[in-house]
Amino acid sequence: MTDKQLTAEQQVQQFSELLEEYNYQYYVLDAPSVPDAEYDRIFKLLKQLETEHPELLSANSPTQKVGGAALSKFEQVTHQLPMLSLDNVFDSASLDDFMQRVIDKSSLAETAFCIEPKLDGLAASIIYENGLLVQAATRGDGLTGENVTENVKTIANLPLKLRGDNIPAVLEVRGEVFMLKEGFNKLNAGLVAAGEKPFVNPRNAAAGSLRQLDSKVAANRPLAFYCYAVGVFDGDLADSQYQRIEQLKSWGLPVSSEVKRVVGEAACHEFYDSISEKRSSLAYEIDGVVYKVDDISLQEEMGFVSRAPRWATAYKFPAEEAVTTVENVEFQVGRTGAITPVAKLKPVFVGGVTVSNATLHNKDEIERLGILIGDVVVVRRAGDVIPQVARVVVEQRDANKTSEIVFPETCPVCDSKVERIEGEAVTRCTGGLYCEAQRKQAIKHFASRKALDIDGLGDKLVDLLVDHNMIKDPSQLFSLTTQQLSSLPRMGETSAKKLVNSLQVSKKTTLARFLYSLGIREVGETTAANLAKHYKKLPAIQEASIESLKSVSDVGEIVAKHLYYFFRQDHNLEVVNQLCDAGIHWPVIEEVDDSELVLLGKTFVITGSFDAMSRNDIKAALQALGAKVSGSVSKNTNTLVAGSAAGSKLAKATELGIEILDESGVLALLGKTE
Ligand code: IVH
Repeated sequence: MTDKQLTAEQQVQQFSELLEEYNYQYYVLDAPSVPDAEYDRIFKLLKQLETEHPELLSANSPTQKVGGAALSKFEQVTHQLPMLSLDNVFDSASLDDFMQRVIDKSSLAETAFCIEPKLDGLAASIIYENGLLVQAATRGDGLTGENVTENVKTIANLPLKLRGDNIPAVLEVRGEVFMLKEGFNKLNAGLVAAGEKPFVNPRNAAAGSLRQLDSKVAANRPLAFYCYAVGVFDGDLADSQYQRIEQLKSWGLPVSSEVKRVVGEAACHEFYDSISEKRSSLAYEIDGVVYKVDDISLQEEMGFVSRAPRWATAYKFPAEEAVTTVENVEFQVGRTGAITPVAKLKPVFVGGVTVSNATLHNKDEIERLGILIGDVVVVRRAGDVIPQVARVVVEQRDANKTSEIVFPETCPVCDSKVERIEGEAVTRCTGGLYCEAQRKQAIKHFASRKALDIDGLGDKLVDLLVDHNMIKDPSQLFSLTTQQLSSLPRMGETSAKKLVNSLQVSKKTTLARFLYSLGIREVGETTAANLAKHYKKLPAIQEASIESLKSVSDVGEIVAKHLYYFFRQDHNLEVVNQLCDAGIHWPVIEEVDDSELVLLGKTFVITGSFDAMSRNDIKAALQALGAKVSGSVSKNTNTLVAGSAAGSKLAKATELGIEILDESGVLALLGKTE
């Protein structure tokens, strides 16, 4: 019995070591010594032994790359050393500048650089203690990431156990999790065959897979890892980046075989050229080249600027471009009413993805490009950014097949008039409260704390109500019944009753809050309060001309126009009336004796800092006396209130001969001095 047990133990050890060696040859050295079938045979034998003798199964066994129990969420991990990012250069002259800075610092013309491909995946930190993989985390914001140990353990080319000599007691390796192009294509083909949505590119696929809560799913994704740096460590490491990479490799860790150590600027440029040529034949995606000072002590001497080292830079490949035809232009309405022209393209493969839409941003961009429907265009895709039309190939324009792009005069979703304010690039739908594209946003704003403050009506519930077609605009909230509400998923009768009650309570509000709740563009709480104070009654605001609106404190040309157009839309007026009919009310604002408003019609600008009162308090006090407080000095300014350290505004006011009050002057004006 004991004999048999011992043999089993020995066998488990022997098979494990064999498989670890085969993995190392295959993944790290890229030189397998046995056929796959032999690997599979040993793997099966080991699995069988481990099933028969569960006590012999170790967490680091080569069979343990299949994932374990699913998690409900990822724990946060604080990085002991922040995970930094890299500065970028986009042309060879800037690369020369970088190298010159390094050479100046080292006073060695022959400074060595470690050059590495810039892998296009996502950064991860992996900690080995006494040679065993104990923790893996995503980069997150650089300071804290997510604990993805279970998923990382399933990455085929990453050892659970290090090999070789002089392994540091603690070793944090940093590197990139990515997906091989081949694996990505197979994965996507499988997803498509199963009727699921394929991933956009290998990077997204890697990110999606690494963030799977179920590590069994991650285990089936063809993820890979290459190390490019060391984080914390307790042990001996070489004092050269390149040698460190070699050391990692000797401990069984995978590194890209493209990493090189070179001396001299010419060699650095050559590397970029040769890898650019090789790029499409590499097994994985790269988006540039990383140049690092090789000498670790020079790295330490050079240090960091904000979040990136001074001793490294990434030379990014130019964005990828392709030529195709604009088949049509459609107009999309965003959540805030912005109307965006989108070019519908003849599908074209750019930078690893098929592109059939490209944003044209706005009218100005259409004019800048001089683009017509039917044009042949160059589309550009840089990283994850939405594809853009870079330029029109005018030489290939066929007058018979092209037509002008006509911007709609009314919203393609709700048919309200569109507005484009001078000086603004964006064209917008004015149907705010009514437009389906803006519906959810409008209702969420309406219910928010500074608006009607409807307790218990959160964003998720608004989504549900709209998705279930229970409300189309905010006024319909008030006719919802307990019965209707409790028919919603995860909504009990008690919560439903509570909500009906808080809707009831929210009806009593103020004119300022009500105005703010309408979500008129650029009408924030202060502007709403100023409008309420100025006009006192809703109809007066609705009927006000642009000129009249502009006389209100905080209201400039643009805000005045937003207000004016909003109240000229029948759809919006309808909703406002329905809200009032639903019983929303506010106390009447008392008439203020005009004789108290000694600063009525005067425009003030406040600049600099003050001791006795804050800037906001001075502003409020001036407004209470009827003054308008504006942000910039112009010929319409009557008085500049200048505290200490006043700068350009003071200079401008002096130049324009505007009255200037210092702190004691304004305190006297406000009657705040004895
Ligand atoms: S070194 C202190 N080396 O690029 C410098 N980063 O833009 C830390 N990346 O978050 C990064 N290949 O995800 C380094 N050979 C390489 C890299 C590389 C890809 C990524 C990494 C990092 C990002 C910074």
